[in-house]
Amino acid sequence: MEIFIDTADIKEIKSASQLSILDGVTTNPTILSKQKLPPREVLVEINSLVRGKVWYQVTSEKAGDMVDEAKEMISVINRPVIKLPMGVEALNACHILSKEGIETNMTLVFSVSQAILAAKAGASYVSPYVGRINDTGWSGYQLIREIVSVYEKQQFNTKVIGASLRGSYDIVEMAMLGAKAVTMPYKIFSELIRHPMTDIGRTQFDNDWQGLQDHLKNM
Ligand code: E4P
Repeated sequence: MEIFIDTADIKEIKSASQLSILDGVTTNPTILSKQKLPPREVLVEINSLVRGKVWYQVTSEKAGDMVDEAKEMISVINRPVIKLPMGVEALNACHILSKEGIETNMTLVFSVSQAILAAKAGASYVSPYVGRINDTGWSGYQLIREIVSVYEKQQFNTKVIGASLRGSYDIVEMAMLGAKAVTMPYKIFSELIRHPMTDIGRTQFDNDWQGLQDHLKNM
């Protein structure tokens, strides 16, 4: 399962990049707008810090403009993934970009039918917004289950990336349901590694080891 963090905060990205298994950084217009800097500059910096993929979401309205915008950003990213917000123009842009071998992501996906169209357009990834669906009283998990099942039955190569995740348990659910990737805020990412029992166990091991060293020194 690929693991991404959903942020453009340079401090967070530097910290998360210490973990070598991080697969990259996803962004969206809201996330980039928080940096109060030209998005291209921010992406150049992110690209310099990240070994994996860097995702950029186009904001143009028309398919042709989306393709041009994508190509402009791709020129400053080593391993780009172009995010396209679900719709007719985005599906057409996705079709063009994917035929050119550019990795794409259909984002803002809330139904199986949208996910089928994204796969038909050749999207490398599809992003169902799990948390935002759960917020409305429906089940984001059920949507993931259905998309994964349809993709398997239809032998689509598009990967499901669980997005809009709210806690570390969401990550486990995504893995169990067969999502091939997840993206999450830095806070959740940093929580994945921790467990109080691990801390207690490590302290005990360290103390016992030190006790042995002291004992051997005094022999
Ligand atoms: C995914 O591509 C989106 O950037 C993100 O996961 C949205 O999450 P939110 O619902 O927490 O804004």
